[in-house]
Amino acid sequence: MSAAHRLAVKGGDPVREAPWPSRPWLTAEELAEFNGLANAMLATGETFTYQGEQEEAYCREFAAYTGVPYADHVSSGTTAVWIALRALELEPFTEVVVSCMTDPGGMMPIPLLNLIPVPADVAPGRYNVGPEQVAERLTPLTSALVISHIHGEPVDMPGIMKLAEERGLPVIEDCAQAHGATINGRMVGTFGTYGAVSTMYGKHHASGPQGWMIICQGEELYWQARRAADRGKPFNLPPGSTNCMASLNLNGNDLSAAFGRIALRRLPSLLARRREIVAQLREQTCDLTTVSLLPPPAGTECSHWFLDFRFFAERCSCPKDEFLEALAAEGMPGLAPNYGGAMPHLMDWFRERRVFGRSGYPWASPDYHGDRNRDYPCPNMLATNDLLFFTTISELWQDEDVADLVAILRKVDAAFQVGR
Ligand SMILES: Cc1ncc(COP(=O)(O)O)c(C=O)c1O
Repeated sequence: MSAAHRLAVKGGDPVREAPWPSRPWLTAEELAEFNGLANAMLATGETFTYQGEQEEAYCREFAAYTGVPYADHVSSGTTAVWIALRALELEPFTEVVVSCMTDPGGMMPIPLLNLIPVPADVAPGRYNVGPEQVAERLTPLTSALVISHIHGEPVDMPGIMKLAEERGLPVIEDCAQAHGATINGRMVGTFGTYGAVSTMYGKHHASGPQGWMIICQGEELYWQARRAADRGKPFNLPPGSTNCMASLNLNGNDLSAAFGRIALRRLPSLLARRREIVAQLREQTCDLTTVSLLPPPAGTECSHWFLDFRFFAERCSCPKDEFLEALAAEGMPGLAPNYGGAMPHLMDWFRERRVFGRSGYPWASPDYHGDRNRDYPCPNMLATNDLLFFTTISELWQDEDVADLVAILRKVDAAFQVGR
């Protein structure tokens, strides 16, 4: 067998040795535009502000992009979830059902507000929760849902909203990883009471190192979020009102808004390119035996934060870890075997109930009337971690890059396929 055909893990030539294109935050023209804006702001002789012209414009433009009337730019994703929960003024020691596969920042704000996080399992074979798994976790104490759209794939929001509406529950959609993803043409983040959209540096569109947007449909919801994001200032309350709730200062700022405005303009073309890449990959790998791209749920357009693959162990002559080792050796970029790093309820802070010192609060509070030793089994999540794996994707990939990825998958598939 020639070195080109032999697997790289067995001493053959890898398909790809050249580095994969990295993602610049801004193009050269965009950077020049940002510098121009920053310089103009500095030239006023004032310090950079928050809730200024740039932030207002960013919020307006982001709201128009997502198709909602209201958006507020805040400091980070974790704080956006915190603000949305705070804005809802939920009764302490009630329960909030939350996706089990999420970033810690999508779950930690819940106990920090003296609410009980109740992780719901994912739908079979996916990274996202489904209505059924959320329904299983509801109790008379449930006061809200926090639902994360993972890896750019929309959760079944019509199903979740039906459940929430039957129970009168507010819903926070965590869209950190799903900018511009749609369900029947409607963007995620616009189904729930609040949508929270991360704009930190790693996301589809960034407002600099940190940042988020909170979006909503209702004016009062918007003002309430503004108050919760800024020490309870009496925004839109009658003259003479004083700060109306205890809260933190979690504002965004004009500098990151100026950055975000520029990046936002490229989001539609960025998403279109990612979708094109995935369509090409899907078409060119649909005959493989051991592996396939995860199909999108019906009626959805994903935004592909990562590329999710399904591994078919029963059609493969080696275990998943060896298969992934072979892919990596051929040059597949940023491979991750599972979503192990993002199951916050399996982490020490949750298992040891370390939120407020060693008190065990909020679970240990006598005001919590639920089952404080309740277990949250997530068998689907464990099975999904065996079934799926993922890699990075970039809108900057050219056709040659897609061809290399296809060649990597084909080579490893040919080496390990059985039973077809
Ligand atoms: C689903 C989800 N929620 C919340 C967060 C937290 O966002 P931030 O890092 O902006 O605080 C992230 C960050 O990656 C995320 O992916």
